[in-house]
Amino acid sequence: MFVQILGSAAGGGFPQWNCNCVNCAGFREGTLRAQARTQSSIAISDDGVNWVLCNASPDIRAQLQSFAPMQPGRALRDTGISAIILMDSQIDHTTGLLSLREGCPHQVWCTDMVHEDLSTGFPLFTMLTHWNGGLAWNRIELDASFTIPACPNLRFTPLPLRSAAPPYSPHRFDPHPGDNIGLIVEDLRTGGKLFYAPGLGKVDAPLLEIMAGSDCLLVDGTMWDDDEMQRRGVGTRTGREMGHLAQNGPGGMLEVLEQLPKQRKVLIHINNTNPILDEDSPERAELVRRNVEVAYDGMSIEL
Ligand code: MLT
Ligand code: MN
Ligand code: ZN
Repeated sequence: MFVQILGSAAGGGFPQWNCNCVNCAGFREGTLRAQARTQSSIAISDDGVNWVLCNASPDIRAQLQSFAPMQPGRALRDTGISAIILMDSQIDHTTGLLSLREGCPHQVWCTDMVHEDLSTGFPLFTMLTHWNGGLAWNRIELDASFTIPACPNLRFTPLPLRSAAPPYSPHRFDPHPGDNIGLIVEDLRTGGKLFYAPGLGKVDAPLLEIMAGSDCLLVDGTMWDDDEMQRRGVGTRTGREMGHLAQNGPGGMLEVLEQLPKQRKVLIHINNTNPILDEDSPERAELVRRNVEVAYDGMSIEL
């Protein structure tokens, strides 16, 4: 399978438009060695022609333009996007659907919980019905694998993950399984297995076992420190509160990944405050020592 990283940053992107933290300001001033990154999205394909978009970011227009297979040009109006999977109902993962309105109807796979949020608090499903039928919902059952007709050699298995529903969710303070999922994507021909979880708050023993059975781990790299927003003076919320496991510290993502020596390990959904964006930082050097990669826009992975 082909995995294309369209956007590797967390909500806000990097640099974030209104942010003057050391990373964002350093990037603008040219004093920081780092790459700009757009907001969280990947595309997956079994043939390189028909693609499943995992999450639709606010930066989708630029992301599609940056990756030629997304515009195959087989007809006067055409796209490489054959289906869309939503991992949650967060703004950074869903707003791009509005920019895809000219191509409706789209086949969208998501859980009951995500569909509910996107039909109430942030009613994208409802609004987009006015554009040629809008979004056709395909329910992701939490206990079953599914396939998508456009990529028949890929098998998708959802994993309900612990996280928080967005502020506009009717059950914001009452978390439900299916608010946020991870995915195992398996290529039935090559046997290659991807574990993808841009929002991962906790790794317990059963999940660790699932991760150990994958070839490549594309996981939550939002924050280095749980209290990073406070440290950088830009906010008060912790990674934990937002459903993101920080890399550093006891029980952090680096300790989790340390237990998985055989897998290719890639961090994605990097927040603009994270010191690993600075290619000369000690934190980045620590990742290199541990054989952990940092996803960048335009990165491709073949499994
Ligand atoms: C998250 O990943 O926690 C959300 O994207 C945060 C946000 O966009 O506000
Ligand atoms: Mn996010
Ligand atoms: Zn910043």
